[in-house]
Amino acid sequence: ARRIRLTDFARAKRDGRRWAMLTSYDQYTASIFDDAGVWALLVGDSAANNVFGHETTLPLTVEELLPLVRAVSRSTRRAFVVSDLPFGTYEEGPAQALRTAVRFMKEGGAHAVKFEGGVRVAEQIRAVTGAGIPVMAHIGFTPQSEHQLGGYRVQGRGAAAEQLRADARAVAEAGAFAVVMEMVPGDVAAEITAELAIPTVGIGAGPGCDAQVLVWQDAMGLRQGRTARFVKQYAQLGQVLEQAAATYVEEVASGVFPGPEHTFADSSDAQAPAVP
Ligand code: KIV
Ligand code: NA
Repeated sequence: ARRIRLTDFARAKRDGRRWAMLTSYDQYTASIFDDAGVWALLVGDSAANNVFGHETTLPLTVEELLPLVRAVSRSTRRAFVVSDLPFGTYEEGPAQALRTAVRFMKEGGAHAVKFEGGVRVAEQIRAVTGAGIPVMAHIGFTPQSEHQLGGYRVQGRGAAAEQLRADARAVAEAGAFAVVMEMVPGDVAAEITAELAIPTVGIGAGPGCDAQVLVWQDAMGLRQGRTARFVKQYAQLGQVLEQAAATYVEEVASGVFPGPEHTFADSSDAQAPAVP
């Protein structure tokens, strides 16, 4: 199957065809999601929480995210790979944003970059797309500004809907090919989706968006415990892994593993392949 390209997203918007995006940070999830038909993979700065164990996305660096982008882009044949730009690597202005975006395209092998903000990053979007790099925008709740926003809260309610609309128009006008809308009321997200010519990608934005995105560890239940209202768990990988690891621990302790079938025989067997 050939690579998903910008023209596919544009055509899907015209045809009213919805598509799915997941985060990915490594080889196996990338190739599995690719095979499953996920059109776009986001190497999100949510790696800060979901890979590196940070509380917020703020501490993540380019040096940490780049190798993950490289792993994901090497491991897909069809999916369109989007890399986030870490906090502090694009806010200073168009030149900084372009410099960082170029690194993720050139060294990471990404097909597009994503960074947070609406009106306030329009100049950055213009500079990056002006250099031939596709930009996915991200408005509504933007985790890198969680301290300013006062925590994880729904954005664009009531009078704030007008700011959200202005952000959506600004990123589309600046040349973004798609826009993520995070934690916004479903009706406002649907109105923006109808108004914009570019696809909207919802996360906690209801069914009216052109596409959906979820953090894979949330969607597949690798992360255990309470999840946000907008997350649907499609598997319970955390439970599966914990159960399997506990069985392994038990079998090592009891001597059940390794069995004769996992054990090499005497030296006369030296030519036997290690993998059957
Ligand atoms: O980093 C991330 O995972 C994201 C998605 C939640 C959109 O930005
Ligand atoms: Na992100």
